[in-house]
Amino acid sequence: MRTFRADRGFSSRLLTLVCLCALVCAQAAPAAARARSVTVQLDRPGAAVPRTLFGLFFEDINFAADGGLYPERVKNRSFEFPEPLMGWKQLAPGGSKGTLQIYDLSTEGDVPNSHYLRIKVDEPGQGFGLSNEGFRGVGVEKGKEYNFSVMARAAAGVPAALRVEVVDAQGHSLGQAKVSGFTPQWKKYSATLRATGTESKARLNLLVDGAGALDVDLVSLFPKETWANRPNGLRPDLVKLLKEMNPGFLRFPGGCIVEGRYLEQRYQWKTTVGAPEERKLIVNRWNTEFRHRLTPDYYQSFGLGYYEYFQLSEDIGAEPLPIMNCGMACQFNSGELAPLEDINHYIQDALDLVEFANGPAASKWGRVRAQMGHPAPFRLKMIGVGNEQWGPQYIERYKAFAKVLKAKHPEITLVSAAGPFPEGKEFDFLWGQLRQLNAELVDEHYYKPPQWFRENVGRYDEYPRVGPKVFAGEYAAQSVGIASPDNKNNWECALSEAAFVTGLERNADVVRMSSYAPLFGHVDAWQWTPNLIWFDNLRSYGTPDYYVQKLFSTNKGTRLLPVLLDGSPKNGREGLYASASLDEPAGEVILKLVNTDSAQKEVSINLAGATGVRGGRALVLSSTDLKAENSLDEPTRVSPVEKQLSAASGDFTYTLAPDSLTVLRVKTLR
Ligand code: AHR
Repeated sequence: MRTFRADRGFSSRLLTLVCLCALVCAQAAPAAARARSVTVQLDRPGAAVPRTLFGLFFEDINFAADGGLYPERVKNRSFEFPEPLMGWKQLAPGGSKGTLQIYDLSTEGDVPNSHYLRIKVDEPGQGFGLSNEGFRGVGVEKGKEYNFSVMARAAAGVPAALRVEVVDAQGHSLGQAKVSGFTPQWKKYSATLRATGTESKARLNLLVDGAGALDVDLVSLFPKETWANRPNGLRPDLVKLLKEMNPGFLRFPGGCIVEGRYLEQRYQWKTTVGAPEERKLIVNRWNTEFRHRLTPDYYQSFGLGYYEYFQLSEDIGAEPLPIMNCGMACQFNSGELAPLEDINHYIQDALDLVEFANGPAASKWGRVRAQMGHPAPFRLKMIGVGNEQWGPQYIERYKAFAKVLKAKHPEITLVSAAGPFPEGKEFDFLWGQLRQLNAELVDEHYYKPPQWFRENVGRYDEYPRVGPKVFAGEYAAQSVGIASPDNKNNWECALSEAAFVTGLERNADVVRMSSYAPLFGHVDAWQWTPNLIWFDNLRSYGTPDYYVQKLFSTNKGTRLLPVLLDGSPKNGREGLYASASLDEPAGEVILKLVNTDSAQKEVSINLAGATGVRGGRALVLSSTDLKAENSLDEPTRVSPVEKQLSAASGDFTYTLAPDSLTVLRVKTLR
């Protein structure tokens, strides 16, 4: 066998050469000054950009529904929490005396809302009653109106009135209302409360005047101003943030919430439609998920239910994507399985959902939709079978679902699971099986460090172009680690995601859908971080990650264009990432450029195939501080800035800001 001996003379000559080279290079080009070339191949247009490429992942985590998008101010409004007075506190001002008694009608059969409260007043004093703490407070804004309502009946004597008051921490009044005229029959009483001050952490007091006993249920304080001014409507600032993203789809209701810790606690859409007061409350699985973020008061009232999700999708122009439980509880928890012999029950739920969404108003479930106010179909086109499942048990269940659903509804695309991780044994097993089954869309999840996103920009370059397509259904850069309470929505994470998304866009012939996850977090009541949008009881803001998503989603164009970086089709070279598309109706080339270097970068851009340009604009998202975050007080610290582009031909140079995402929209003549 030949061996090589070190040739000292050769080594030292080599060393000299290397040193010389380094010297020459250092002098010839401060590297930052070398213009990088970016060629957009207009003359080689690719696949159409899917309308669904960028969408939203909604899950009822972090108080995203009750206490968030669903703006009811009263927590435990029907006394249905297992601790029926959780969130409530007795009030006995001015020496009043009485008792609060909970009654339960569940012995009378399957009553969805079986509890009510009796306020028994023995000595009226200045009124006897109770106070609700809201969702980490009751939010009211000066001058705005709130609809107070309650189901009530006189149980003994006829108490004179029920006084309703919003108060701040010092007990100062921020608005009052009163209802009276009670009878022994249950009836709804309503009044309008106009706020005299702004406070996000107020309380709602209810005081019975006069002796007697009053039974109360369904105590509600609901803002008059909702999205589209609908009764039982959604919080307008949050819906606005969603709509402004121009999302291609809305996935709901999750996430692990679909699965439940146990099957009994899985999400069942049928219990979330019909009159809000008849929707049966269950525990939220995030209530106890993390020891470090226990949330004992987290339940699902389903005030925001399936009808409202479909309506929201329609309002924001997004395709609805409901995810169904497939007979599997969360595999990180109990992993309970519905026996395959009983799986038809789960499949029937999916079939009925198609009827609820798309069926004629005369059909059983279509009638429920029509009676709720939407006779026209919701045009459901996709359904997810399970959330983050894995193992052969999933494949067995997916097969059973696919067999029936595709036979009865070939028009519905099925989304299948690829487990919780973007690689590994389970992931490979699932992909192998799903390919054999000719699955349609496979849902991949990745919660990884920022660096992973920068390094995996080529993830889909080599994916097969035939067979199942990809839904990048849950992803977010984790600044510390998955499920760490210290994760931040900082600029480094968002910028790394931006680099990665250029890879998704370039491969949009395979990656048909993608969504950041999770969507919402209440600043005082979250379990999981990072999240795309944060809010308190009155205010909200988009994170830097939000602006990345928004820039891509609102500038996705209609047709992919190949991009060469320094002449190569490989993306992500030396801190530069790019993707491009054509907006055919607007006649604009859209070029996204991500610079992950802390120095500015000059790029020499060539729009190959353009005979000329008619100007354009640049949308720039940048920060020189990788740790920068947005907040309630500084909601737009990292947000896009628009500039004019002074390009006079299809060949021009542009200087990218340090650590930036730039979207160039160039009007082309062809
Ligand atoms: O997004 C938070 C959780 O992460 C989702 O519920 C689950 O699907 C994933 O593990």
